[in-house]
Amino acid sequence: MKFSLINESKYQEVIELFKRVFSASEGEAEGQVIADFVANLIATTVRQDLIGCIAEENEIVVGCIFFSRFTVPSGQVAFILSPVAVSTDVQSTGIGQNLIKYGLDHLKSLNVNLVFTYGDPNYYSKTGFEQINESIVKAPCPLSQPIGWLAQSLDGQVIQPMIGPTQCVEALSDPGLW
Ligand SMILES: CC(C)(COP(=O)(O)OP(=O)(O)OC[C@H]1O[C@@H](n2cnc3c(N)ncnc32)[C@H](O)[C@@H]1OP(=O)(O)O)[C@@H](O)C(=O)NCCC(=O)NCCS
Repeated sequence: MKFSLINESKYQEVIELFKRVFSASEGEAEGQVIADFVANLIATTVRQDLIGCIAEENEIVVGCIFFSRFTVPSGQVAFILSPVAVSTDVQSTGIGQNLIKYGLDHLKSLNVNLVFTYGDPNYYSKTGFEQINESIVKAPCPLSQPIGWLAQSLDGQVIQPMIGPTQCVEALSDPGLW
């Protein structure tokens, strides 16, 4: 398994991966919603605000994650992990967790302070994420499942309560995604 940062030549392949994986797990309509979201994320986010990581087996992309910049009132450097997909035929073999660990190591090398995500706490806790109350850091949109608001510090500092709004990139600012 090869882990690397994504480059433009892989964009179409990852959009199709997200469509396939989410169609299988959530139904075709959701597959299309996620594919459109990923295409929008790639098209509208400036390069320094978007980090994509892929897992490849025999040159074929079998996993992909994106981190996009998240502006927090403390001024610390933060990113949000979303979305994540691993090809259906190789799920539950550790690829998702190893890909997230690869991405987190890359963010550490860039001196990123904080990483957030929104998803299943049972899954993301395996790679260091913990539930975070909105009284500590607000989510950028109203949360339909506040239990899924997760974060971790990458610099060893405890996450301090922050007063004020946060902002994600435009593609993630769609309330329907939250
Ligand atoms: C969720 C997903 C990314 C996990 O990646 P993966 O490579 O299959 O998972 P890993 O092999 O790294 O981890 C497997 C572990 O996570 C658990 N797990 C897998 N999918 C899970 C999910 N959706 N929720 C909670 N736990 C999950 C497994 O039970 C397993 O637990 P164990 O290590 O205690 O046995 C992948 O299954 C996927 O793409 N699913 C469909 C799309 C999706 O739901 N994406 C996440 C939301 S953006």
